[in-house]
Amino acid sequence: MSKKGKITLIILLVTIILAAIGGTAYYLYQKDAPKRELAALGYNEQQTTVIIKNNLADEVINAGQSSLFIYALENNISNIDCKDYYLLPDKDIPEGKTAKELFDVINKLKESGYTSEEAYVMVNNLDFETIYTVLRTVQPADLELFTTAIYHDYSVEDSLLLAQGNMELMNMLNEEKITFENVKPMLTKGYSAEEIIQLYNAMEPDDYAFIKSMKYIPELALLVGMDNFEMDKLPRYLMSLRSNRAELNDVINWVNNDNDYIPADEIDYSAMYHDEEIPENYASYTACINKQYALPADYVPSDLEQLPAGYRVLSHPMRHVAANAFMNMSDGSVVAGYERILAQSNYRSYEHQKSLYDEYVFQDGVALADTYSARPGHSEHQTGLVTDIGTSSLDMLYFENYSGYEWVLENAHRYGFIQRYPEGKEYITGYEYESWHFRYVGVESATVMYEHDWTLDEYSLLFD
Ligand code: DAL
Ligand code: ZN
Repeated sequence: MSKKGKITLIILLVTIILAAIGGTAYYLYQKDAPKRELAALGYNEQQTTVIIKNNLADEVINAGQSSLFIYALENNISNIDCKDYYLLPDKDIPEGKTAKELFDVINKLKESGYTSEEAYVMVNNLDFETIYTVLRTVQPADLELFTTAIYHDYSVEDSLLLAQGNMELMNMLNEEKITFENVKPMLTKGYSAEEIIQLYNAMEPDDYAFIKSMKYIPELALLVGMDNFEMDKLPRYLMSLRSNRAELNDVINWVNNDNDYIPADEIDYSAMYHDEEIPENYASYTACINKQYALPADYVPSDLEQLPAGYRVLSHPMRHVAANAFMNMSDGSVVAGYERILAQSNYRSYEHQKSLYDEYVFQDGVALADTYSARPGHSEHQTGLVTDIGTSSLDMLYFENYSGYEWVLENAHRYGFIQRYPEGKEYITGYEYESWHFRYVGVESATVMYEHDWTLDEYSLLFD
C-alpha cells in the first residue's frame, strides 16, 4: 500500500471511530433528554422515574409547567392514573389559586363524578366557594349539561335547571335557536327537554307564550303536534281524554266534531259528582269549586264584608276584593246607561247551603235539585266570591231580561267577573244555565276565560 493509501485508511478509521463515539454520546444525550426536560419543569428524580415508567414523559413535557401535577405527585404519587385531572398547565390555573386549593377542589369534583374537562370548566368559571356549595348541597341531574351551562355563563341556579334538559336543547340555546326565556319557565314547570322542543317547534310564538303561562299539562306536547289542534278546545281535549271518553289518537276529531257535547236536558247532573276532593287552592280567587271539587265544611273566608246598602238586595257579605269589584261593576252599569245592578245573593255558609239543598231535594227530589242547586261544600257561594245579580225592579231569576244583560256579559271580565254557568256549557259546569250567577276570579283570569270562551272548570285544567 502506498503512503497515500495508508494515510487515507487511517483518516477513514479515525473518522469511523470518532463517528461511533459521537453517535454513542449523542444517543446517550438524547436518551436523557426527557429527564432533563422534566427536571427543568421542576420534577424531582423520583417523580421523573414514575413519569417515564408510566410512559407519560411526552404528555407531561407537552403540558409544560404544572405546579398542580407536581403537587399531585407529591401527595398522590401512586395515583398516576388520575393524571388527566391534575396535569393542568400553570397558565390555565385560575388567577390567585394555589396548587393545593386546586388539588383539593378537583379531588372533590372527581369524587363526585365530574370528568377532568368538567372539573376544569368548573374551576375556571366559578369561585371555589360556589363549587363547594354545589358539591355539598346539590347533585346536578347531568354533570356534562351542568358544566356546559356554567361554561356558557349561566348562573349556578339556571345551570342546575338546564342540567335537567338535554344536549339538543342546550345546543339550541347556544345556537340562539331558542331563548332562555322560552326554556326556563317550561323546565321549571316540569316539562322535559323533548317536550319543550316539540312544543316550541309546533307552535306559533303567541300560542307558545300562552302555554308558558299555564301549568304543566302532560298531554300537551302530543296534542299540539296533531292535525287540527285548536287552542280554544284544549280543555275539552283534556276532559275527554281524562274521563276516557276519547282515545288520544282520535281526541282532536272527537272534540272538533262536538262528540263530547251533551244537550242540557240529557245530562245526568247527579252523576257529575265523582272523585270528590278539596283543591289545594280552595281559598284563592281562582279556586274551582264544582261537583268534583269541594270546600272544607268549616271554611269561612276571613275577609267577608257587607256591601253598602245601595249595592245589594239581601244582606249577604262578599270577600273584600270581590265586593269592591262588584261595586265598580254596579257603578259601570249606571254609567253605561242601564238600571243599577245589585248583589242579590252572595256568601252562603256550608250550613246555609245544606238547608237550601235539603229543602230543594224535599220539594223536587235529588235528580232535579242537582240540576240547579249545589250540595253543601260544593257551592261556589261558600267562597264569598259570588254574587247572583238582580236589580231593584228585577229578581235575579229574570236577570237575562235585564236591559243591560248584554253589557254585563261583554264587560264583566273587565271587573274580574265571569258568568259561571253559561248556556250551552251545562255538560261542563254540571248545572243548568244561570243568567244571574257571577263569580269573581280577578281581571286577568276573567279576561282569559272571556277571550277563549272557557268556564272556570275549563280554565282550571290549564291554570292554577
Ligand atoms: N245555584 C248554584 C249552582 C249553587 O247552588 O251554588
Ligand atoms: Zn248563585
